[in-house]
Amino acid sequence: MAQNTLTVTDNRTDRTFTLPIEDGTVRAMDFRQMRNGEEDFGLMLYDPAFMNTASCRSSITYIDGDRGILEYRGYPIEVLAEKCTFLEVAYLILFGELPSAQQLDRWVYEITHRTMLNETTKKFMEGFRYDSHPMPMLVSTMAALSTVYPDARDVRDPQNRLLQMKRLIAKMPSMAAMSYRHNLGFPYVYPDNDLNYTENFMNMLWKMVEPKYAANPVLARALDILFILHADHEQNCSTNVMRSVGSAQADPYLAAASAASALSGPLHGGANEQVIRMLDEIGSTAAIPDYIRKIKDGHGKLMGFGHRVYKNHDPRAKIIKRTAMEVFGVTRQNPKLEIAMELERIALEDEYFVKRKLYPNVDFYSGLIYQAMGFKPEMFTVLFAIPRTVGWLAQWQELVQDTEQKIARPRQIYTGQRKRSFVPIAERAVDGEPKL
Ligand code: SDX
Repeated sequence: MAQNTLTVTDNRTDRTFTLPIEDGTVRAMDFRQMRNGEEDFGLMLYDPAFMNTASCRSSITYIDGDRGILEYRGYPIEVLAEKCTFLEVAYLILFGELPSAQQLDRWVYEITHRTMLNETTKKFMEGFRYDSHPMPMLVSTMAALSTVYPDARDVRDPQNRLLQMKRLIAKMPSMAAMSYRHNLGFPYVYPDNDLNYTENFMNMLWKMVEPKYAANPVLARALDILFILHADHEQNCSTNVMRSVGSAQADPYLAAASAASALSGPLHGGANEQVIRMLDEIGSTAAIPDYIRKIKDGHGKLMGFGHRVYKNHDPRAKIIKRTAMEVFGVTRQNPKLEIAMELERIALEDEYFVKRKLYPNVDFYSGLIYQAMGFKPEMFTVLFAIPRTVGWLAQWQELVQDTEQKIARPRQIYTGQRKRSFVPIAERAVDGEPKL
């Protein structure tokens, strides 16, 4: 029997099939031929939440969950976080190679000179209540860019795709800062092209009446590192949304707004905000054992712990923890750090978490840094969305160019009733509230 094949016997028909194994996978469509009679549609594969389904081929990010390995285009995340700037890594993720000095200078110039927002965006932002959560404000404003750049619909044109990608990467910090200033009731701050990507973001966030904003270099570099760590993570929930919406050939602003919506969920990018709320709820190291007991009794989850892929440590968490110490050297130490570290120590010794391979993930320590920098928890997922926009766009670009891809349209197992007789409204039984 040829190697790299799977032999399947359908015991309903006694027929045997030999399927090719390619890249550690078999094609789901190869099971459709296994039918139990002329009327049978053929076998499908049932995989809720895509636990064991590869949806695409990608060369952007490699993760080894058992060994705690994360690489962007083959470069270890630890090296990139130490030696690169965020825009340098963004170039790598988007184009597949680290830029030369000349290429980087050109790339930085292109992004820097696209940070301005159309003035209508300010009016759009003004429409939100002052106390609106910045994440839905950001998502809405990302989608609104589709009205400013209607040419973005031409997703088949590579040069047009590149122009829109530059625009969105450049404008994410501007929109994020605008939502932050709107919450505070402060006037918006325009971009300053003398500053780099993270310094300019800090300028748009925190400049008050001084003639020129001067970013603290330690905090600017910490943000740059955090942006590098959050830039992409292969087929996570929000990237899956980006690819699915992109497969319908929607424009990249609407696709990225959809992805950002997914990121806002507390099980995904919204976890960093929930970690801080959890640490506030715990309140002290003395209260940790009771809290852990509550989690083990099934009441809630330890936010910032666990991962679908990492069954060992999340390599990003280690780098973030180290960066946190550098930030706390500049700001006052976040008093929640002690609770977080003790919570991690206790959890990593507890059979419940060890058995389930639950380790701190990227969201566990990042919020402590953001809070020490002065961000409210509501801003944390916005800070995740800014760099992840690079990953979403790179994955979208790969999807659009992939000749194997079509519009995403999963099948289902139908569990409802069939061919029911219609009942005129006068004859329908009067009953209580509809049951969800
Ligand atoms: C991100 O996918 C990515 O790459 C995402 C991300 C990225 O960069 O894009 O890495 C970013 O989203 C990180 C994850 C942030 N979310 C959280 O920190 C929320 C808390 N974590 C959990 O909700 C959970 O761990 C997930 C969602 C991250 C992963 O969930 P899975 O893979 O679906 O695992 P599961 O829910 O099936 O859990 C398996 C078991 C269950 O117990 P049993 O039913 O077997 O008894 O582990 C338990 C779960 O109850 N469990 C937890 C837990 N996470 C899982 N128990 C307590 N606390 C937790 N955090």
